[in-house]
Amino acid sequence: MKRQLQEIKEAVEKVLSGAADLEALENIRVEYLGKKGKLTAVLKGMGKLSSEERPVIGAMANDIRSFLEKEIDEKKAEISKKLQDIKLKSEVIDVTMPGKAQAMGKYHPLSQVMNEIKDIFIGMGFEIAEGPDVEYDYYNFEALNIPKNHPARDTQDTFYIKENILLRTQTSSIQVRVMEKQKPPIRIIAPGRVYRSDAVDATHSPVFHQIEGLVVDKGVTMADLKGTLETFIKELYGSETKVRFRPHHFPFTEPSAELDISCFVCGGEGCRVCKGEGWIELLGCGMVHPKVLSNCGIDPEIYSGFAFGLGLERVAMRRYDIDDMRLFFENDLRFLNQF
Ligand code: DAH
Repeated sequence: MKRQLQEIKEAVEKVLSGAADLEALENIRVEYLGKKGKLTAVLKGMGKLSSEERPVIGAMANDIRSFLEKEIDEKKAEISKKLQDIKLKSEVIDVTMPGKAQAMGKYHPLSQVMNEIKDIFIGMGFEIAEGPDVEYDYYNFEALNIPKNHPARDTQDTFYIKENILLRTQTSSIQVRVMEKQKPPIRIIAPGRVYRSDAVDATHSPVFHQIEGLVVDKGVTMADLKGTLETFIKELYGSETKVRFRPHHFPFTEPSAELDISCFVCGGEGCRVCKGEGWIELLGCGMVHPKVLSNCGIDPEIYSGFAFGLGLERVAMRRYDIDDMRLFFENDLRFLNQF
């Protein structure tokens, strides 16, 4: 029996050293120390021993049992620690590693300039108005004092959808829609896409953006127009920018003017960008034609107004010194990421 016990001890020590995981350990424990285990089986045979032998063997069996239990516990701790080490190693985070740069989305340069312009006018008490891209001939031309056969219709090479429906060629159409619905005082800007049957080149695109402005109230004068636009330009281009108004012609304003700004590159000396002029043409404007007011049901004897229209691409090109309009529409990230 002593030998049997000794053999069990040795056998357990041997298999223990080869046990690789907790499951194997548990199997060993059950096989040797469990209720039906080998050590238990030996102890069951103790009844046949003499009363002198019994306590000796009993003590030995107990020693071996507690020794093996201790061995198994130690092995268990060792394996657990190993497993934990493996787990920790696999989950290790090197906080000193450089982070992965997240590419951030951003506004298109045209949207940036558009938002800036909106903010400036909203700051002056203007509201934003909108109108449809697909427009009636009436709103785009007729009501704006551009009758059929008027030469202005030729110059604005129009995309017609039907005889009296077209893609608007100017945001001025929104002026009419606003005046039809709203009683003065009116103070709006109307941004939007406009369409012209132009061939694509560095300064032309069949689709571009305009921002229309309209103010109608009692006693509005050319001085209000000049003051408003000068304030706007200085906000947008800097307070040192000079503004000049040149007489011009638009069918829907009388008198009409074009606004030039002092060249932002040379400051007025004359350079490549302003073609030696010192001035850069920026927008069209004028006092709303009395006929346009009455077309919209506003009495020109009581009310007067001014209007203006500017091309967003042109403003953005001047603003960022971009010499090719096509860059705005190609969506090349190498270009867009510079803004
Ligand atoms: N609609 C004109 C164009 O497309 C721009 C313009 C000029 C708008 C004068 C206006 C204005 O409101 O008063 O060229």
